[in-house]
Amino acid sequence: MYLHILARCRDGGSAAVVHWIRAGLLSMLLAFVGMASAQADELKVSQSSVSVAVGATTRVGVSGASGTVSVRSADTRIATASYANGSATIRGVLAGKTTVTVSDRRSRRPIEVTVTGSTASLTVSPTSLTLAVNATGQIQVSGASGTVTPRSGNRLVATVSYANNVVSVRGLTIGSTSITVEDSRSTRSVAVSVTGTTGGGGTGTYALLAWNDLGMHCVDGSDYSVFSILPPYNNLHAQLVNKSNGSVVTSGVTLSYEAVADTRGSINTISSTKTNFWQYVQSLFGVSPAPDVGLTGNPTASRTPAAMKYNSTQGWFEAEGIPITPVDDTMRKNFYPMVKVVAKDGTGKVLATTNNVLPVSDEMTCKGCHASTTTGNAAQMAAKPKAGWVNDATPEKDWKRNVLRLHDEKHLGTPLTPARSLPRSTSWTA
Ligand code: HEC
Repeated sequence: MYLHILARCRDGGSAAVVHWIRAGLLSMLLAFVGMASAQADELKVSQSSVSVAVGATTRVGVSGASGTVSVRSADTRIATASYANGSATIRGVLAGKTTVTVSDRRSRRPIEVTVTGSTASLTVSPTSLTLAVNATGQIQVSGASGTVTPRSGNRLVATVSYANNVVSVRGLTIGSTSITVEDSRSTRSVAVSVTGTTGGGGTGTYALLAWNDLGMHCVDGSDYSVFSILPPYNNLHAQLVNKSNGSVVTSGVTLSYEAVADTRGSINTISSTKTNFWQYVQSLFGVSPAPDVGLTGNPTASRTPAAMKYNSTQGWFEAEGIPITPVDDTMRKNFYPMVKVVAKDGTGKVLATTNNVLPVSDEMTCKGCHASTTTGNAAQMAAKPKAGWVNDATPEKDWKRNVLRLHDEKHLGTPLTPARSLPRSTSWTA
């Protein structure tokens, strides 16, 4: 209706005016007010000069426009401009000066624009980062404009924080993610790879490698009262490597081993309650280590860390003859007891740790042929002593006594050496 009124008025037809007065006095008044202002006003901008920071925006009011309003920046590398609903929006891009021109169909108004702030653009260094689990790395930020916001693409892998132009990245779990650093103008990304300490390895600068050199080591088992084929005796070796230069660390550090639970919670911290080895060790081997200490003086793994010694000939740390058994602390068989090896510096700070298995088995299965039992198995029957089976009620002793009897039947002329005060084989013959 408003446009109709204007059109009629401009036609100047008095009859039409009368007609529209009849149509409504209020509409008529409004129409004339609108027409008068449109004709009297000219294009105005609320500010002829503005200052805006890089990345920020500012608005300039536009009034009195006739027809379509357009805005144009003389240099869009410094500032951009747009128009909507009676205001021009100017955004600073790069520090400098330019002019934004507001025009309608009749005239144009310049706005002098000064963009303040850094002339440099956002830069991050480095653009990729490798961290160990639990280690923290830094990303230097420069040329930032406005607020800097770092974000981790995967906060389970790495977390971020920002202060004083430095983004701190902390590795949480093995994996990779992307860290984005955003300021008011742009976004940069940094590829982050978090490396692990699962199995071997270590955090930060050191890697710890540990191994057993005997493979699956057999032991007689719980009973040593008849004879011994294999004492409890396991070997552990380790090397600490400085990852920053690849060198093997041989001094200024201490390495130790201790019992650690396996993934099922089985832990083996003591041997003396699982075998009578220490009751017979003197007569069998001619030495008398204390309970839970092995033939070479190293203790079995326990909750107390035991020292490893440096072997300068081999260039490794070692603990030989660890008297571990294949029975865990709940008296269940576990042929793969785990130990934890810890490397510390001179101040006691842990440099690296790793878990290692000391494989041990009592499955020599000599009893498969030498136990006192009558079967149709030809090999077993061939192993039967001429004097007949011993029939000892204790299975661990029974097969050993049969082996001794068989040995004596064949080799009575070469008895076991009395120098070691071994149980005399003749004492087991009939
Ligand atoms: C597959 C069956 C079998 C198994 C398993 C077995 N043996 Fe025998 N062993 C025999 C037979 C058969 C003889 C008798 C051989 C003969 O009369 O010439 C024998 C003989 C012996 C002898 C006496 C031989 C000699 O000349 O002194 C000894 C000692 C012996 N075994 C020890 C062991 C030990 C220790 C184990 C476990 C590590 C073992 N055996 C496992 C079958 C077996």
